[in-house]
Formats: sequence, structure tokens, C-alpha cells
Amino acid sequence: MAKCVLVSGGAGFIGSHVTVELIQAGYDVIVADDMSNCDLTCFEGVKKITGREDLPFVKMNFCEEESVNALFNDHQIDAVIHFAAFKAVGESVAEPLKYYGNNLVSFMNVLQAARIKGSAVLFSSSATVYGEPDILPVTERSPRQSATSPYGNTKQICEDMLRDSVKAYDGLRGIALRYFNPIGAHPSALIGELPRGVPNNLVPFITQTAIGKRECLSIFGNDYPTPDGTCQRDYIDIVDLAKAHVCAVSRMLDGKMKEDYEIFNIGTGKPLSVLELVNAFQKVNGVRLNYRFAPRRSGDVTAIWADPSLANRELGWKAERSIEETLAAAWAWEQKLANK
Ligand code: UFG
Repeated sequence: MAKCVLVSGGAGFIGSHVTVELIQAGYDVIVADDMSNCDLTCFEGVKKITGREDLPFVKMNFCEEESVNALFNDHQIDAVIHFAAFKAVGESVAEPLKYYGNNLVSFMNVLQAARIKGSAVLFSSSATVYGEPDILPVTERSPRQSATSPYGNTKQICEDMLRDSVKAYDGLRGIALRYFNPIGAHPSALIGELPRGVPNNLVPFITQTAIGKRECLSIFGNDYPTPDGTCQRDYIDIVDLAKAHVCAVSRMLDGKMKEDYEIFNIGTGKPLSVLELVNAFQKVNGVRLNYRFAPRRSGDVTAIWADPSLANRELGWKAERSIEETLAAAWAWEQKLANK
């Protein structure tokens, strides 16, 4: 019988891509989401891509302990992937309690239920835990730095909650995946990123500028100590990122873990500057982008990229899609939205 994976926050950007890859790898999936930061567009897209019109969907808030327990009681959940969290860095600074309340309580409820039911836990963490690294690229053993936002702090605390729980409770096991910068969209253009309001992240701002929804892209800072003065990041294709989750789930469920709590960097290992990314977007899509240099954005680190060799070796996973394919997919998705 196929193993069952619960995807909390499964109607969002990363969750929907992960759901597709899990289904295509033969898992049964239950998608759960409170729809507070998305609509049904991506869930419908997932059903189309996979041909699974009957894909189970539960509308629920993971902060409600009784709903979480009921879900775990009603289904045999072999693994849970937890995405259900707030993710806007700036908003988390303005409303920290909203972030601590939601992101920590929801994960605590998932951990409690997983502990009782013996489900494996995959937590979606972030490269933000490394702060401004002294040595590049960062490995999983690079030191974590104090978080610069409540959002970042919730990622660190949730990692610690998972680590401590695995240590304390027999039978509980978990993996934290530290994502670098997830971008792009599914090649079908049926699912992708749907930011509410003005996008915070670079690629949705680029595609919205290219389509004419935004007048001009501001490149935040051109005086950083990097080769071209703009920040460097490790942009990871969303489909590649989603596939890493399938590898991590199978590692947990097929008894391949070396420790009961493991951490993996999920990135390409290749740095790209903001300017390089903008130029690649223009070149591959044949569009001209209106941009200007603007002051640095507070809280941005100068440069960060992954050493993904542990994930390459242990998960048998590697980033495969080129930045050109990724940026073409992001543009196809934006155009699809505009034609709707
Ligand atoms: N940038 C611009 N203009 C924009 C948006 C972004 O120049 O309009 C630049 C940023 O200054 C940064 C780079 O593009 O140098 C990437 O910015 P993103 O906002 O896309 O991504 P971040 O590296 O800031 O964000 C990542 C994750 C977030 C996480 C954050 C924590 O994508 O989910 O790290 O620091 F919250």
C-alpha cells in the first residue's frame, strides 16, 4: 500500500510543487491548508498536473490542536511535511506575536500528533538561520547566527523543537531542509508563486515588472563587497526543491536515516548576484526590464550560498534545472496569470 504524506500548507507555492512530486513518486497525499495566504489556484493546478481530481483537501488551521489531532486520528499519516507558516519578514518585525503564535503553535501541534502516531516529520527551514555567514559556502555545520527577524527566529526555534523532541521521544524522527532562495514555477505553468500585494521577493517582482504590473524594479544596493556590488544568493528551482522533499520523505520512511534528526541544505551551490539574475531573465525571455539602483534593504545579508554536498550524497538529490529554464518557467507562469 502506498505510504501517506500529510502536507500542511499544501496549497501554497512550495507545498503545491511538493504535492505534485510526491504524487508522481507514488505517495498518497493529503493537502491541508487554512487558505489564509493563498487561493485554490495552485490546488486546482496540482489536480490537473497529476490527474488526481480526487486529491484529498482539508481546510484547517494547524494552530487548532483538536483539528490536528482529529486529522491524525482519522488517517494513517506516515509522514508530515510542515509548510503552514507565515513568511513575510517585514510583517514579522511589525507583528512578532502573530508570527510566534502561528508558526510555533502550529508546529507544536504537528509534533505532538506525530509523536503519538509515529509519523515522520519534515520541517521546512531556511538559509536565514545562517544569518550573514563568515565563510562561504555554508555547510550544515556552519554556525547559526542570531535571527534578525521574528520570522527567522521562528525557523530556528522550530528546528530546535524538532531536534529536542526527536532526542526526547523514542520513535520520533525528523528532517529539517534549509532552503536557499526558491524561485520559478512548474513547467506546465499550472502552478507557481502567487504573492499577495506588492511582492517582497526578487523574482515575482521581476516578472510583475516585466508584465507591466509594476513600473520599475528597485535593486536594493549596488555597493556591496561583491563582484558587481549587488547581493549574491543561491537561487534554487522550485521543482528541484520539491524533489528534495521526496528524497527526504523516502529516507525517513525507508529506514535510511543515519541519525533520528538530520539537516540538509537545499541549494545549487552556485551564487548569482541580483544583477546577474536580472540580466539572465532579460536574455532568456527576450524582454527588457525597467530597473534602477536603490538604497540597501535593511536586514539583507551580502552574500550566501549553499554547500549542498551533504544532500547530494545522503539524499541522492541534486539541483538539475538551469537558471535559464527556471526563469523561463517563472515568466511563463506570470504570462499565464495575466491571460486569465
Ligand atoms: N531584491 C531586490 N529588489 C527587490 C526584491 C529583492 O533587489 O524588489 C534583492 C534583495 O535585496 C536580495 C535579493 O534580491 O539581495 C533576494 O531577495 P529576496 O527577497 O528574493 O530573498 P531573500 O534572500 O531576502 O529571502 C530569503 C528567502 C525568504 C527568507 C529570507 C530571510 O527567500 O523566504 O531569505 O532573510 F525569509
